[in-house]
Amino acid sequence: MDLQWYPGHMTKARRMMQEDIKLIDLIIELVDARAPLSSRNPDIDQLGQNKARLILLNKADLADERKNLSWSAYFQEKGFYTVKADARSRAGLKVIHGMIREACKEKLERDRRRGIKNRPIRAMVVGIPNVGKSTFINTFAGKACTRTGDRPGVTKGKQWIRLDKNVELLDTPGILWPKFDDPQVGERLAMIGSVKDEVLDLDELSLRLIAYLMEAYPKILQERYCVEEDREPVDMLGAIAQERNCLKKGGELDYGKAARLLLEDFRGGKLGRITLE
Ligand code: G4P
Repeated sequence: MDLQWYPGHMTKARRMMQEDIKLIDLIIELVDARAPLSSRNPDIDQLGQNKARLILLNKADLADERKNLSWSAYFQEKGFYTVKADARSRAGLKVIHGMIREACKEKLERDRRRGIKNRPIRAMVVGIPNVGKSTFINTFAGKACTRTGDRPGVTKGKQWIRLDKNVELLDTPGILWPKFDDPQVGERLAMIGSVKDEVLDLDELSLRLIAYLMEAYPKILQERYCVEEDREPVDMLGAIAQERNCLKKGGELDYGKAARLLLEDFRGGKLGRITLE
C-alpha cells in the first residue's frame, strides 16, 4: 500500500520536543501494543539520549496477551523499562508509578548523594498520534493532582502536572511522527486506525487484514462471521458481506461496506485480542 502522509507541523513539533526534553528526567513513550514497532519512531532514541526511558505498551487490552509478554521482553532486552497498560483505566497506575521510580533510580541515587531532597522526577509523554497520550495524561493526572502552573503568581510557561510529591508530568505530550519507510508499517497503522481513513483504499486494507488473520489467527473470522475460511481473502470479504447483509440497491454485494465493518470490528476489539506484528 502506497501511503504518503507527512504533516507539515512535524518539524516544529520536533524542535519543541527537543526543548522540552532538556527539562525532564524521564521519557514515557507510548506505543500501540497491537503494532509496537510500527507505532514507534526510533528517532526518539536519539532525541532522548541520556534520559531515563519507559515504554508503555498501551492498548494492551486490545492486543494478544502472549504477544504483550513477548514484546515486553523484547523492549526490556533493548534496555527500556517496559510496562503494559490500558490508558483508560486507573487500575495499572500503581505499577506504572513503581516503574517510573525504578527507571529513574540512578537520578534518585545521584540526588541523594548530593544531599538533594524531594526534587520530583520530571517526565514527559511522547508517541505518535492516536496511541493514547492524552488519555494517559488524563487518567494519570486524575482528580488529586494539581497543575503547578495554574497557581496565581506562577509565571506562565510550561505546565506541570504534579502527580504526587515524587513525580511531575509535562501536561502537553510530545508528538512523534510515524516512519513509513516500510510499506507494511503504514498498513499496520492503517489497520489499527492511526492513519486517516480518507487517504486509504479500505477494500485493499481489509483484504490484507483478512489474509493476516487467516494466517495468524485461524478461525477468528469464522467464529465472528459464521463463514468458512477455506477461500481467498476476496471471497472471504464477499462471504462477510453476504452474512452481514451488506448489499447495494440492486442486491449486489457491497464489498466496501463489508470492508468498513470488518475494520471497525477489528479496531474495536470485537474480533478478539489481536496483535499485528
Ligand atoms: P493521542 O493523544 O495519543 O492522540 O490519543 P488519545 O488519547 O486521543 O486516544 C486515542 C483513542 O484511543 C481514544 O479513542 C482513546 O479512548 C483510545 N485509547 C487510549 N488508550 C487506550 C487503551 O489503553 N485501550 C483502549 N482500548 N483504547 C484506548 P477514541 O475512540 O478516539 O475516543 P473516545 O471515543 O474514547 O473518546
